[in-house]
Amino acid sequence: MIVANSKRELLEWRRSLDSDARLGFVPTMGALHEGHRSLLRAARKSGVTVAASVFVNPTQFGPNEDLDQYPRTREADEAALREEGVDFVWFADAAEVYPTGFATEVRVPLLAAGLCGRSRPTHFAGVATVVLKLLNLFRPSQLFMGRKDFQQLVLIRRLVLDLDLELDVVGCDIVRDPDGLALSSRNVKLSEAGRVAALALNRGLLAARELFKAGERDAVKLVLEASRLAMADPRASLEYIELVDSVHLKALESVERGGVLAIAARVDGVRLIDNIALGEID
Ligand code: PAJ
Repeated sequence: MIVANSKRELLEWRRSLDSDARLGFVPTMGALHEGHRSLLRAARKSGVTVAASVFVNPTQFGPNEDLDQYPRTREADEAALREEGVDFVWFADAAEVYPTGFATEVRVPLLAAGLCGRSRPTHFAGVATVVLKLLNLFRPSQLFMGRKDFQQLVLIRRLVLDLDLELDVVGCDIVRDPDGLALSSRNVKLSEAGRVAALALNRGLLAARELFKAGERDAVKLVLEASRLAMADPRASLEYIELVDSVHLKALESVERGGVLAIAARVDGVRLIDNIALGEID
């Protein structure tokens, strides 16, 4: 595995590849867990050269968010990337990604306003800006992203489509602990009791899916069923539960072909998100 610590090293490596080289790219913020590893494996499996980036991107954190406390585990990350057979990784540095005078922002307002955007109004501009920069630097043919961050995935798909980027966005399933909790780099901050409360989120989503499977199509009823369980533990303070379509993220009144039930809550001061597909989604 080639480890680059500067943009120059990244660009030199990229230029050294054959012009028809097919590259699979996995952007991350580090603190790698099985969720990230599943993306690396999916990239590996597709037979392309696999590249990853590790960068805790400051512009996607709001003023009162956990940028300083975000876990940074470079050594373990490097070992995990090696284990997964990654060919190249860039450990990026904020001063290089955003040099003095940096003045551009990429926004996808129609997809960034709802769901997580309501409590994180600047988050998705930070994500869109850094992902577009990374795509320009790595020039991959495939981009691997997790469905865990569903709104992020939908928004990046849109950006790729709208800006005519020539690459496939591959959405990968949510990896969970055996008890159902969606893996997140922030889970390490949960207390034992907090972890139990966090499990209620997934339980709520699963209950709604059961109701859907039993024939319920009404969004209000499905959302109510999910919130009944998700709010059962007083440690979990719910931010939203919404049923949306998987392309425009518009609220659905009823699920015809399919939709995504998305949830966000705070437990022990840790913000958690999860989602589940109901029916068929794109
Ligand atoms: P990060 O939170 O490190 O996640 C990197 C990728 O791993 C994302 O595509 C995310 O959806 C995926 N992922 C995280 N947990 C997962 C899980 N439990 N199952 C499946 N996939 C999971 O998302 C970001 O970083 C940043 O916003 C980034 C795209 C790197 C831009 O800074």
